[in-house]
Amino acid sequence: MDDVKEKYLAQIAAAGTESALEEVRLAAVGKKGEVSLKMRELGKMSPEERQTAGPALNALKDAINEALAARKAALADAALEARLAGEWLDVTLPGRSRGAALGTIHPISQVWEEVTAIFADMGFTVAEGPQIETDWYNFDALNIPDHHPARGEMDTFYMHRAEGDDRPPHVLRTHTSPVQIRSMQDKGAPIRIICPGRVYRADYDQTHTPMFHQVEGLVIDRDTSMANLKWVLEEFFSAFFGRSVKTRFRASHFPFTEPSAEVDIQCSFEGGTVKVGEGDGWLEVLGSGMVHPHVLRSGGVDPDEWQGFAFGMGIDRIAMLKYGIPDLRAFFDSDLRWLRHYGFSPLQVPTLYGGV
Ligand code: PHE
Repeated sequence: MDDVKEKYLAQIAAAGTESALEEVRLAAVGKKGEVSLKMRELGKMSPEERQTAGPALNALKDAINEALAARKAALADAALEARLAGEWLDVTLPGRSRGAALGTIHPISQVWEEVTAIFADMGFTVAEGPQIETDWYNFDALNIPDHHPARGEMDTFYMHRAEGDDRPPHVLRTHTSPVQIRSMQDKGAPIRIICPGRVYRADYDQTHTPMFHQVEGLVIDRDTSMANLKWVLEEFFSAFFGRSVKTRFRASHFPFTEPSAEVDIQCSFEGGTVKVGEGDGWLEVLGSGMVHPHVLRSGGVDPDEWQGFAFGMGIDRIAMLKYGIPDLRAFFDSDLRWLRHYGFSPLQVPTLYGGV
């Protein structure tokens, strides 16, 4: 019996899997197993023989069952250990980088959103208009009659009509000001809008591209004044540049505003770089003024009841100033190295509470 026990204990210890262990169990203590068969033989024994063989067989069976259970538990533990080792995960590792596959937001788009966030906070809504305009919206309605020198100064792109069609040509809008007229016609007064958008002029050098961006502002109410204009713009520049920025209002002339002012912001040109909000230099960034009565009338607004201000600012210009971009033309070259360098994370949406 000792031999039988040794044999099975050895087999149990050697079983490397649960199914191998099950085979050993069947061979030893299964219904037709060696130990079970031996127990059946107890019936044929004499009472004396049975008295010693019985307990010994029982002890043998217990020993084998115990060893089986222990081995089974050990195999289950080992399987769990192996699984834990295989599925081990370091949650402290940095995430997999998308690297260069992640695009960037163009500085113009970024500044467009920043400007919108600041004016939205001051109660402005965003208006839009077509980039291909009639000359009435682009000029006449804005108090720029035919043969007015301003038409020539704007380097307008004309879209010529077919031969024999005598109607005046459409133009690529030379400024966002036609949206003033469209907004007044749509909404009447009072009104408080900005209109960011593309504009076109036939001009190309380091500071001019044939397509560029402006943001128009228009506020019409019963007693809106030049003082309100000044406050809104100063508030805007401080929020946009993240520091207090001195402004300078210079008397100027636009056909669609009276009085008119061009606005400069304070900056230094020291060391070959432009720094806004310091030094004693000035940079022109926008045109503005009180909306001319003729313009109010073009928009269907009664100048005896309503008055207000308008301004037009170069988005590209203020983007260059804020982010230290030296050449305007690079904005539209689609050079990936430039875009990756000056672009913004798509996850960093400009907000006032986050700081534009
Ligand atoms: N439309 C003018 C320009 O493009 C800017 C401007 C807008 C001036 C509104 C006054 C009022 O230069």
